[in-house]
Amino acid sequence: MSAAESPAVTPVSARLPVFPWDRLEPYKATAAAHLDGIVDLSVGTPVDPVPELIRAALVGAADTPGYPTVWGTPELRDALTGWCGRRLGARDLAHRNVQPVVGSKELVAWLPTQLGLGPGDRVAYPRLAYPTYEVGARLCGAEPVVYDDPTALDPAGLKLLWLNSPSNPTGRVLDQEELTRIVAWARRHGVLLFSDECYLELGWEADPVSVLHPEVCGGSYEGIVAVHSLSKRSNLAGYRAAFVAGDAEVLGELLRIRKHGGMMTPAPVQAATVAALGDDAHVTAQRARYAARRTALRGALEAHGFRIEHSEASLYLWATRDEPCWDTVAHLAALGVLVAPGDFYGEAGARFVRVALTATDERIEAAVERLG
Ligand SMILES: Cc1ncc(COP(=O)(O)O)c(C=O)c1O
Repeated sequence: MSAAESPAVTPVSARLPVFPWDRLEPYKATAAAHLDGIVDLSVGTPVDPVPELIRAALVGAADTPGYPTVWGTPELRDALTGWCGRRLGARDLAHRNVQPVVGSKELVAWLPTQLGLGPGDRVAYPRLAYPTYEVGARLCGAEPVVYDDPTALDPAGLKLLWLNSPSNPTGRVLDQEELTRIVAWARRHGVLLFSDECYLELGWEADPVSVLHPEVCGGSYEGIVAVHSLSKRSNLAGYRAAFVAGDAEVLGELLRIRKHGGMMTPAPVQAATVAALGDDAHVTAQRARYAARRTALRGALEAHGFRIEHSEASLYLWATRDEPCWDTVAHLAALGVLVAPGDFYGEAGARFVRVALTATDERIEAAVERLG
């Protein structure tokens, strides 16, 4: 008898929202019927090659028969602290301030459980957000809470506050002043703040700042942790390479749990991460590809009657024709272009669609032509 059939066990999956992507399937079929094939701009999954130097590092570490450690190799920790100092401006980070994780999605989904949160605790995240923040709250039985301005939240029972700048899906960036205000509020109320910064390298009309920047955190990492991923910056979504950096006590607790529970980053991925964080050239090249696609798509969408909001950073254009998002999805699917409906990210997105920049130049050109 499966857990789902057992009268004694309520399946955990019953706590989770309906997996929304299944609802897009009929539109995907419509778009795929286009004579020149589908242009799939619905999922933000990288399509460009994994840079050669990263692949070489992965292959070079292929002969690793022993277990990796949860905390990673000293070389990896050096690479994490070094990158955070160089790229984020974080000062005086030690090894105890960093930790590799197996993909940031996995971290987001399991963090509330690993922090020991449960019924009676609250987990807050933006009103329009990456759906996994809610999933993480629901998996441990905590109450998910959405916000427009986190400093307007009631701090009672609030145990974890998620920020996401640049934002998925809107591409909105929180500036240094806003971040500073939010960090101060969270500390004042003893609320642990996790800042998901996985699109930080993809600022277009904004220069995203980390919560670890001294102007934001005052040079102390107390109560704050930044989450970074190599999926987008280095085309490594398939490697599951990510890390957290910040409050040593919080990371120490996660380390103790993960030493028992596993979730170790595979050794070849650790080596690949060291190589990826030591090289800026591939990030610059990838940024240039996305910038060109963004310019082309943005122009074509606006000429087609779309209005673009926010979108100053990240891998997405947050677009509307001032109609229900599913009408827009249907309209574009008929042209052979698949996009994500805004209501996947919260009811507030019901009149928007999210258009990803993650398609080849050839497919982006095809989309531009179809919109013309
Ligand atoms: C805001 C945000 N956080 C985290 C992730 C997960 O990234 P990964 O698990 O590949 O590190 C995504 C992926 O799309 C995202 O948009």
